[in-house]
Amino acid sequence: MVTRTSIGALGMAGLLAASGVIALSGTADAASTLGSAAAGKGRYFGAAVAANHLGEAPYVSTLDTEFTSATPENEMKWDAVERTRNSFTFGAADQIVSHAQSKGMKVRGHTLVWHSQLPSWVGTLGTADLRTAMNNHITKVMQHYKGKIHSWDVVNEAFQDGNSGARRSSPFQDKLGNGFIEEAFRTARAADPAAKLCYNDYNTDGVNAKSNAVYNMVRDFKARGVPIDCVGFQSHFNSASPVPGDYQANLQRFADLGVDVQITELDIEGSGTAQANSYSNVVRACLAVSRCTGITVWGVTDKYSWRASGTPLLFDGNYNKKPAYTAVLTALGGTSSGGGGGTAACTVSYSKQEEWSDRFNGKVTVTAGGSAIGNWTTTVTVTSPQKISATWNGTPTWDSSGNVMTMKPNGNGSLAAGASTSFGFTVMKNGSNAAPVLGSCTAS
Ligand code: G3I
Repeated sequence: MVTRTSIGALGMAGLLAASGVIALSGTADAASTLGSAAAGKGRYFGAAVAANHLGEAPYVSTLDTEFTSATPENEMKWDAVERTRNSFTFGAADQIVSHAQSKGMKVRGHTLVWHSQLPSWVGTLGTADLRTAMNNHITKVMQHYKGKIHSWDVVNEAFQDGNSGARRSSPFQDKLGNGFIEEAFRTARAADPAAKLCYNDYNTDGVNAKSNAVYNMVRDFKARGVPIDCVGFQSHFNSASPVPGDYQANLQRFADLGVDVQITELDIEGSGTAQANSYSNVVRACLAVSRCTGITVWGVTDKYSWRASGTPLLFDGNYNKKPAYTAVLTALGGTSSGGGGGTAACTVSYSKQEEWSDRFNGKVTVTAGGSAIGNWTTTVTVTSPQKISATWNGTPTWDSSGNVMTMKPNGNGSLAAGASTSFGFTVMKNGSNAAPVLGSCTAS
């Protein structure tokens, strides 16, 4: 019996994809990093960067080796660059931008207008003065970085959580009204016409009241010619807020409005295979949406994450690559360099199929590695209170909770090297849209 995880295994697919990547970058190991593998798919792969870690050698070497875009984690926020009115301090942000530029990385600008990390003086201004201050802030910051930022989060987190679909209270909203967002985008376009202008938010990753409200705003902006080029989906996930089952569909509906979509602050709490599979689902969703132009993870290493105890990133505190790293690399069509030890017996991948209000169908594709296999098996875990109500093209058994299905083939499951088969199942949502999580694939 040969047992390997699904994650290392997709290296075979990566190997197949690698030839195109080599041509693009001109180096022999082109697709062995996140950035080069993403480039092979026409995307950037970025990380949030904190200026105060740029003196730490493994932090910098991990950043420089793996990532092709950098987002200052805090250094471009209002309280960092304009703590005192009309007195701008760009030192820490400049450090990140020059480092990124010296390594050929792109930079995402984060963020111009946000209710948080806002110096208190902004909240004391009267309406007319606040309007002047907001436009001055946008203009001065964008002019300082003109030509150096590929995308700006012009407005961040302007909508409330929950079902209201309402705008969040902030000095901007409360004094300038709904029109502040539009005004911010118009000012931003004038300040740096080459930068992509994004609206960025969290809890908008699936179809829900909050994302519907953002969707309606973007549709209205496009209809009226208000300049907006992209929508950022922060994608902070954990067990209470898992990757939604309609993540890809949600990205696609925004893209269909005529804007790019970007995954801007990705992190997923957890560990091991479950975390790896969730990361893989996110990457595959982005790759399936042609206007999903890039992915940024919210930090380089778990140890400096804003939620370090949830170990949500791709490198552990010692800069070791985690299973989630390998899952992302393989989902991007890359292949691990060094070590490795051959291809795995088989790999599994998930895709959502038809969906109705109360249920959706899932499909799992099982692919043999570099050798022929038989008797493959894998698990599919659904999130309670979801239940699997039907299956096809396989023989299932269940754990005591009824949430973990172990699937075996009908018959001997023989697959030639590199060949695939698939099985399907129906998930009753019971109120949850979470995507199923796949276990590893084993075979004899
Ligand atoms: O730099 C000071 C330090 O001098 C001081 O000793 C220390 C103690 O309070 O605070 C330090 O500042 C902290 C800063 O991070 C830098 O580490 C702030 O208190 C802390 O509030 C700040 O947290 C940031 C948070 O935004 C603020 O809301 C996180 O690093 C940052 O990851 C997080 O990022 C946000 C995105 O901008 C928007 N989307 C959500 C995301 C996660 O919350």
